[in-house]
Amino acid sequence: MEVVIQPDAAAIARLVADEVQSLLAARPDAVLGLATGSSPLAVYDELVRRYEAGALSLARVRAFMLDEYVGLPDDHPERYRNVIEREFAGRVDLPAGAVQGPDGNAEDLPAACAAYEAAIAAAGGVDLQLLGIGSDGHIAFNEPGSSLASRTRIKTLTSQTRRDNARFFDGDVEAVPRHCLTQGLATIMSARHLVLVATGAGKAEAVHHLVEGPVSAMWPATIMQHHPRATVLVDDAAASRLQLAGYYREVFAGKPSWQGL
Ligand code: GLP
Repeated sequence: MEVVIQPDAAAIARLVADEVQSLLAARPDAVLGLATGSSPLAVYDELVRRYEAGALSLARVRAFMLDEYVGLPDDHPERYRNVIEREFAGRVDLPAGAVQGPDGNAEDLPAACAAYEAAIAAAGGVDLQLLGIGSDGHIAFNEPGSSLASRTRIKTLTSQTRRDNARFFDGDVEAVPRHCLTQGLATIMSARHLVLVATGAGKAEAVHHLVEGPVSAMWPATIMQHHPRATVLVDDAAASRLQLAGYYREVFAGKPSWQGL
């Protein structure tokens, strides 16, 4: 696992956008994994800037989302499919239909989960998966206790996650759905490069467990320690509980600039 400590979200976004840009230069039809939440927003803004400057195109890209709430009306602004459209897909040249997500309004939810796994496999798997992390250590919506071998399935959100996400629902916890469909931890681990972004002191404990804690279903993101290519980008506040922060800084400072993340 590579840990990259940067002064702020904008610096992190530039590094992640560099990585996406070089992936697309090598493979214009790459498969991207998109995350919702506030963590990737600066990355999306930076990618949009580069698209507008003509530096990159997503015209041949396909993308898969990590998760979706169950039961939000199709036109609800917080439905993750609508969030991704608003924050990213609708601002670049991703063709209509290029972004897929699990269908949280399907009649048969287990069948929708299986279909989603099949769609990711049929696309050849995800090349680069963007991730945020919940304050309880979840990635996508794999809450504490999730099987480390899980695939896309229905999950019940913890009350902490519902409280954390209430800010997107006018502060009303009761408006936050109780259930979601989420890629499992094994689904996420199948992506070829995992790129996790975390900023702010509220993420410091989760980041500490992610990078330096024992691998445990209690902190689901720790499964990333088993991934051969996982990059964790954090700001100083999110890095504040890392014991080896000095070493991570030294490693990154000594890295040749051509090497990328
Ligand atoms: C949400 C999403 C995750 C996200 C996490 C952190 O519930 N399902 O994909 O990484 O929580 O969100 P934020 O980046 O807003 O802190």
